[in-house]
Amino acid sequence: APRLTSLNTFTEEEQMLRETVKRFATEVVAPKVREMDEQENMDPSIIQGLFEQGLMGIETSPDHGGAGSSFTSAIIAIEELAKVDPSVSVLCDVHNTLVNTVIRKHGTVEQQEKWLPLLAESKIGSFCLSEAGSGSDAFALKTRALKQGDHWVINGSKMWITNSYEAEVFLIFANIDASKGYKGITCFLATKDMGIKIAKKEQKLGIRASSTCTLDFDDLRIPEANIIGGEGKGYKIAIEILNEGRIGIAAQMLGLAQGAFDKAVPYTYQRQQFGQPVGTFQGMAFQIARAATEIETARLLTYNAARLKEEGLPFTKEAAMAKYWSSVVAQNVSGSAIEWAGGIGFTRETGIEKFWRDSKIGAIYEGTSNIQLQTIAKSIQKEYS
Ligand code: CAA
Ligand code: FAD
Repeated sequence: APRLTSLNTFTEEEQMLRETVKRFATEVVAPKVREMDEQENMDPSIIQGLFEQGLMGIETSPDHGGAGSSFTSAIIAIEELAKVDPSVSVLCDVHNTLVNTVIRKHGTVEQQEKWLPLLAESKIGSFCLSEAGSGSDAFALKTRALKQGDHWVINGSKMWITNSYEAEVFLIFANIDASKGYKGITCFLATKDMGIKIAKKEQKLGIRASSTCTLDFDDLRIPEANIIGGEGKGYKIAIEILNEGRIGIAAQMLGLAQGAFDKAVPYTYQRQQFGQPVGTFQGMAFQIARAATEIETARLLTYNAARLKEEGLPFTKEAAMAKYWSSVVAQNVSGSAIEWAGGIGFTRETGIEKFWRDSKIGAIYEGTSNIQLQTIAKSIQKEYS
């Protein structure tokens, strides 16, 4: 069995959480993965299970119905889920590292008391920043909010919104004063019953069980009490949350790479050609060794970024590095894993090809690989000038 090679700096609570999530992933998620991928649908029993296991309020305080665990615990959960299904992993990731975190960090006491228990116990959240015309250039968003009495009225549209097919709570970034440029961007909390319309559900290459929809807001009325973090504060909230959220995607890609490796490598020691296990030919053994080394680099970058964040130290550059590099590793390892298994790896039967399809998204969402490189480059320029 593979052993954990990195120095173990996890607390007892974090190790217990890893075991709990591993069991949930293998017993509850694994049997459903292929069907959910083929049907492009998240099984409601898995969502129910995530709530029951306390995985939808990992960092939320127990006073608000959460587990009160560390950021690293969230990273561990995302990684363990991704070893089995990156779609379930991203559902948990967006809900915890983006939606819950915005409310935990920027919500008023009243907002925290109202929304965090619901998000920990039964309602899924979505983070609505991107639009058709503004992906990397996120702050150029066109959704507008206008004040009318004690309500705000939102008009516009969001594209690519993860979890939005199942979600009931939506954090919407809209501009309240375009003359101020991105300094007009404000974060609003809306619920499904306020009138959010799903205009389109995407059909995708990978993470097909994770919903991705376009949402239309047509005179969406939101009470004044649902502004999160104050008027004009939305851009800073969005990017600061994304800085840490990117460690979550790094963990998803790390788990994915490990999941593909764990499926393919044992097969190479069973499969015989020319009278020996194919994994013992030097051409194969060295590829496997290189992949294991790459996974280890992704693991170290990801956990180091998580711990820096937890310690209150600067982590933006390290988070961007972790997300960028883990996405490269996920594509490399899952691509190689298909080849190691030969023809059977190319079929749906083993589930290895699914990891490769799922890996492509790592280089796109929560800031493309170029955006991560730009973030790293900006930090280097600051450090050296
Ligand atoms: N950390 C903190 N602040 C940052 C920052 C960072 N990484 N990058 C920019 N800022 C701040 C700047 O300091 C500046 O603020 P002030 O005026 O207060 O100083 C402001 O943002 C604008 O800075 P720039 O002009 O340099 O930024 P820009 O407009 O060129 O681009 C950006 C900024 C939109 C954040 C861009 O760098 C970026 O990250 N784009 C990707 C967007 C993204 O990650 N979207 C993810 C959507 S959610 C998602 O994808 C979820 C999922 O799939 C699962
Ligand atoms: P573009 O920004 O148009 O980029 C196209 C290409 O140009 C990329 O290769 C990019 O790297 C490159 N490029 C752009 N600008 C630069 C630059 N300055 N320098 C160098 N290269 C550049 N968004 C949300 O708000 N919430 C979600 O929950 C969410 N979930 C998603 C789920 C999925 C499955 C997908 C596909 C997307 C999701 N997104 C979500 C949106 C995602 O964050 C954007 O797709 C991403 O930020 C890229 O934006 P874009 O697709 O418009 O690509």
